[in-house]
Amino acid sequence: MFLQPTLLFAALVASIEAASWIVPGAVWNDVNGKKIDAHGGNIVQRGDTFYWVGQAASQDVIPVMYSSTDLLNWTPLGTQNSLKWLWRPKIAKPNGKFWIYGQLDRSIQSLVSDQMVGGYRLNGAAVRIPPNSYSYSDTGMFLDSDSTWYILTSADHNIVQINKLNSDGSVGARASQLADGALEAPGMLKVGGTYYLIVSGKTGWRSNPNKVYTSSSINGPWTGGADIAPPAEKTYNSQNTFELTIKGSQKTTYIYMGDSWDSKGGPSSNHVWLPIKVDEARKSLVLEYHAMWKVDTRTGVVSWPAAGKRYQARHAESTGSTEIVRRESAVGKHAVRGISESGQAIFRNVTGGGRKQWVSFHYTVNDQEAGEAHVTVNSDALPTNISSLNCRAGFHKTVPIELHLEKGDENVIRFGATGSKDFEATIDGIEVFDDEEEL
Ligand SMILES: *[C@@H]1O[C@H](CO)[C@@H](O)[C@H](O)[C@H]1NC(C)=O
Ligand SMILES: *[C@@H]1O[C@H](CO)[C@@H](O)[C@H](O)[C@H]1NC(C)=O
Repeated sequence: MFLQPTLLFAALVASIEAASWIVPGAVWNDVNGKKIDAHGGNIVQRGDTFYWVGQAASQDVIPVMYSSTDLLNWTPLGTQNSLKWLWRPKIAKPNGKFWIYGQLDRSIQSLVSDQMVGGYRLNGAAVRIPPNSYSYSDTGMFLDSDSTWYILTSADHNIVQINKLNSDGSVGARASQLADGALEAPGMLKVGGTYYLIVSGKTGWRSNPNKVYTSSSINGPWTGGADIAPPAEKTYNSQNTFELTIKGSQKTTYIYMGDSWDSKGGPSSNHVWLPIKVDEARKSLVLEYHAMWKVDTRTGVVSWPAAGKRYQARHAESTGSTEIVRRESAVGKHAVRGISESGQAIFRNVTGGGRKQWVSFHYTVNDQEAGEAHVTVNSDALPTNISSLNCRAGFHKTVPIELHLEKGDENVIRFGATGSKDFEATIDGIEVFDDEEEL
């Protein structure tokens, strides 16, 4: 059949936009090439399909949904209700109907529908949390292995409280509480007979070291308060929203879903998703950091890319005040240091596929507060700050971003930095991933 040029073009764009990896902190586009805007949400699996609900920062915090079968490529399913300022919406299914619970002006507002996608209508007025009529912040959701749904809240804005969802969708009895300072953003997973409750401290939109508490019963008591990542990483600059369990044919994989908020929880916020490593004997868990990774949703097996094609600092052109120095820790044993407004590292003859590709920048900065690194590809008129493409920029030594490379062996990638007087970046090299076989 003859394809109209516009359809053909759409088909090409769709294949170009296919995502191959989950990249914590990086801008994540949907199948139409538009940035995914679903925060504070959760994911529910039905058959082979995952449904992701979240608040749309660019649309006054209304609930939106996306779907995917591989957790990589997400199709937007649109607005689920036009209610504004419904924070941290969560899907639940305590009965034959479908529900979204979110925080509306410090109370729980529920929406109900007869189907998973669309048709959500208000279910009465917003309610306070029983039994003490607490107001709250930060909705969380957990489905127990006996099919009971629990809504998790920061009751009275500090105490994590777990309430059962009744089969009529109403908020039911309190199962337990965790009062251990000011906590919010609760999420939970269950491994063996142990419940792991992940919570955030309260630091506004700034990230903090999220913690884990455990119990052998949903009714508590909760013990712990252990870090889920090295504290200095501040949960890799994110805040918990939900824990997703993938029961694969080979392995069960638990996924931490976090929001990497911008300074006001706005549209430039990103996502940090990481596999969770659980030690059942010690009843402890930690996030397993990967700059790029994915999970096979059928087998549950987590993988990450083989090394891409590397372009080492040693072979880069270093301009201005930069110099190439020996660095034992670098893959190529060398680094270009002194990168600032007065000098760059230029990688020439980079092979590209004529499309967007992940390019990892292996670099460090001497002061995260004092400036940032940027990149200029081929004939770009202006450099792009790496932080606008991946908010791990400057905070991790491997930072993948998606760049459009021309087809052939003559791409030029300039790595520079802007900042205050003594700010400088040091780069070991770049790594270009060719994911064509993944499409
Ligand atoms: C890039 O490739 C061209 C053509 O093959 C070659 O002349 C040039 O020396 C190469 N430059 C670098 C920096 O490798
Ligand atoms: C890029 O980063 C520099 C240093 O932080 C900043 O001064 C500049 O405004 C940023 N540029 C853009 C386009 O955001």
